[in-house]
Amino acid sequence: MPAVLPARDHTGNRHAMQKTLTFLGLESSCDDTAAAIVRHRADMPPEILSSVIQSQTALHAPFGGVVPELAARAHAERLDLCIEEALAKAGLALGHLDAVAVAAGPGLIGGVMSGVMCAKGLSAATGLPLVGVNHLAGHALTPRLTDGLRYPYLMLLVSGGHCQFLIVCGPQAFRRLGGTIDDAPGEAFDKAARLLGLPQPGGPAVEAEAAPGDPRRFAFPRPLLDRQGCDLSFSGLKTALLRARDALVAEKGGLTVQDRRDLCAGFQAAVADVLAEKARRALVPYLAARPGDAVLAVAGGVAANAALRSALMRVCDADGVRFVAPPLWLCTDNAAMIAWAGIEQYRDGHVDGLDLAARPRWPLDQTAPAMIGSGKRGSKA
Ligand code: KG4
Ligand code: ZN
Repeated sequence: MPAVLPARDHTGNRHAMQKTLTFLGLESSCDDTAAAIVRHRADMPPEILSSVIQSQTALHAPFGGVVPELAARAHAERLDLCIEEALAKAGLALGHLDAVAVAAGPGLIGGVMSGVMCAKGLSAATGLPLVGVNHLAGHALTPRLTDGLRYPYLMLLVSGGHCQFLIVCGPQAFRRLGGTIDDAPGEAFDKAARLLGLPQPGGPAVEAEAAPGDPRRFAFPRPLLDRQGCDLSFSGLKTALLRARDALVAEKGGLTVQDRRDLCAGFQAAVADVLAEKARRALVPYLAARPGDAVLAVAGGVAANAALRSALMRVCDADGVRFVAPPLWLCTDNAAMIAWAGIEQYRDGHVDGLDLAARPRWPLDQTAPAMIGSGKRGSKA
């Protein structure tokens, strides 16, 4: 159960909200084991003192997807090592920390539990406060870590497991405007790559293949554009790609190099178009709340896609909105975002007890209607 505002910190310091804070962050919600240390002096830009990520990509590669049991075991084995490395790189010991922040969900339950148990162990052994952070809040607050954005800003979170538009109003205040009702865009890119015999992760492979392709040759659908609002759908697009591929195979017995390039270009253009149009719609309620100094920020692995970035920039230019994309290594899963979200939320009065629960599902905006299929893969954000 979340405890109340730490009017004083664990040392009894009444000025906890003003003082310099150095947080350890832990991330283990999908297939990256990560530890990082972030320091924030009030009124100064935050500093990432260290950030260690051990990817499990090779571990899961033979199975064609993340195997939850393997992931959980690997997190449990590697978290300690990541923490030691993060402390060593920062030149700090546990005694220099002010708190431990951990991604307590959403994600694969075994992995999240590994992180939460590790953080609780540290907290119990050292007396450091424990801050359970929503992994999605980590992504959503990253532009404040990297670019010092002021609230409220509009965020498009586009990754392998999630896709949503949020107005980020405060460290613990998120208004969800819409999101995917089935696949996440990264998941769609990965499936598209599989359909076309391209390697994983599919996004970069499809993007590279699309570069010399003709995006107009195949008229792929723009799902849900006929429906009002910011909800998105990508599973129909994947089916359209499958049909186009099968039609070509039936006609000619296989795909030429150019066919594959054109299919990738058409698919990518459809994803970018849909996200850009929905971003344009999401800007309407956001601009009503923030008419001046408006910002659209992106996070998540799909934010690496240049066609998507250009499409979003065009939308922003048209509305006089600043477009912000944090560096890619902070857009994808990492623990610096968890440490930073922990600092922000701790200053905002959030601290947890040793009864902190691991939550496989944890919507950021508790007031928004539940999404049926959002982030079906459910593990990555
Ligand atoms: O954020 P991320 O590293 O992991 C999570 O899903 O949380 O995102 C990975 C996803 C994968 O589905 C990958 O195919 C996609 O991001 N991705 C891309 C690109 N680079 C990575 N999608 C489209 N274009 C890219 N350049
Ligand atoms: Zn994520």
